[in-house]
Amino acid sequence: MSGPGQDLHALPPREFLEHVHSFEFWLGAVQGYLAGRPYGHREELAEPARSEAEREQLVTVLCHYCLGETMALEGAGGLIRRAPNRPTKVFLATQTVDEGRHLEVLVHRLAELGVADPEGEIERRASAELMRFRDRLLAFVGAGDWEAALFAQNVVLESAEFAVFQRHARSADPITREVLLGVIKDERRHLGFGENELGRRIARNPALHERLRRVRAELDPLVLDSFERTLSLLGTPAAERSELGRDYLAAVERLGFA
Ligand SMILES: [Fe+2]
Ligand SMILES: [Fe+2]
Repeated sequence: MSGPGQDLHALPPREFLEHVHSFEFWLGAVQGYLAGRPYGHREELAEPARSEAEREQLVTVLCHYCLGETMALEGAGGLIRRAPNRPTKVFLATQTVDEGRHLEVLVHRLAELGVADPEGEIERRASAELMRFRDRLLAFVGAGDWEAALFAQNVVLESAEFAVFQRHARSADPITREVLLGVIKDERRHLGFGENELGRRIARNPALHERLRRVRAELDPLVLDSFERTLSLLGTPAAERSELGRDYLAAVERLGFA
């Protein structure tokens, strides 16, 4: 077992992975940025002035984020039963908690922006690409296809969220920025788990690479169309939008899906 003060990198690879995917590790990781930040941001941060049109755009973008977090919450929770062993089940339990928290802070952010019925607003503003992505992801989860589901969720969706949130955080108001930066820290952990679990499986089974390449070919256009919509709402110039597409593709390609 590992304990406080132990150099994690001195652990044998299997123990290291089990530790970084455990609740023990999770507790230490989240304490730093959850403490003193009810609903994901310090209370003293001031809401900036914005026009009604700017508020509308921000609300739509946050509604899309809520859809992404809801599918990740349902996907991570649904995958616990399908996970191949106990350490992966435990990790997915931590991820389920993270995704629930992300959804909660983003819904709260909508309320702070004066949205009276976040639930209805998220449904009303849903984008067709995101809904199609959700259907595909939850179909993989429902079919018990561990590898395709984990790829869609912890590689494709997480890479997309990571890229969009990071970019949005740069130009966001201080409250939204703090919320997004907290969420990003968790998404990085989820992405790391997906890459690791699938990377080891691909190394053992080269046919898996080809199968996931086909899944990716189906999902990439949905993700990229969804980026296009979100970033144009945020007023991001076209050049930066294609940069975001590249960030996303680079993240997915780390698994060798060029
Ligand atoms: Fe999330
Ligand atoms: Fe996540």
